[in-house]
Amino acid sequence: MYNIILLGPPGVGKGTQGARLRDRYHIPLISMGDILREAVREGTPLGKEAKSYMDKGELVPDDVVVGIVGERLKGEDCSRGFILDGFPRTIAQAEALERLLEKEGKEITHVILLDVPEDEIIRRLSGRRLCKVCGAAYHLVFNPPKEEGRCDRCGGELYQRDDDNEETIKARLEVYHSQTTPLVEYYEKKGLLRRVDGVDTIEGIFERITRILEEGNNSPKNP
Ligand code: AP5
Repeated sequence: MYNIILLGPPGVGKGTQGARLRDRYHIPLISMGDILREAVREGTPLGKEAKSYMDKGELVPDDVVVGIVGERLKGEDCSRGFILDGFPRTIAQAEALERLLEKEGKEITHVILLDVPEDEIIRRLSGRRLCKVCGAAYHLVFNPPKEEGRCDRCGGELYQRDDDNEETIKARLEVYHSQTTPLVEYYEKKGLLRRVDGVDTIEGIFERITRILEEGNNSPKNP
């Protein structure tokens, strides 16, 4: 069973690789950013609270995101594994996750840390476009859609995220360095962390990740 955390700064490719892992292993991709953005779009109380933090590139309070993940992990579809993208982002969130999983007799099996230099991250985020309907991620230069402004998967309209502007990208990177990087040591000490060079084609990076996941696994596509 794969219970995976995708770790790394904004724009490193967590969502892109997460979607490919979901399709390969048929396990749910739980993206905290997507969950929060959907709440913002729907104007729910959670969305209203989250928006003020997200617009500034700050983290939404731990108790809010831990509550969301706790509920989501109870889903029947998580019984055969899951991929967490964008959670945990603080030590408090990581500890809460451990307690949540412990109650269910589960544990994290892999923490994949994607590593990309900062100038490349800024290039990636400023050219990112997302599908309004299915959330698929594109890049104007590195991963363009076949038809301009339209999603290849579902034909939905593409848009640019509010927080993908230079000022907010810088704030998100600072928040990552101050609040999320301690998780690298945290998971390293637990022997779960695997570093993956995130500068390559999307396919090349995907191969690196699946090689790590499938080490010692004889039936990789049917875990
Ligand atoms: P979230 O949505 O999780 O944003 P993030 O962590 O900043 O990550 P991104 O989605 O920006 O990047 P990514 O690594 O997924 O990259 P992607 O694959 O899209 O969070 C948003 C906000 O929500 C946070 O700021 C916070 O406010 C809140 N939040 C979320 N989780 C929280 C938590 N746990 N606690 C508190 N608050 C939380 O790729 C980027 C671009 O690069 C794309 O255009 C893609 O096509 C392109 N690309 C990908 N791979 C490659 C490649 N190999 N080569 C070239 N281009 C590539």
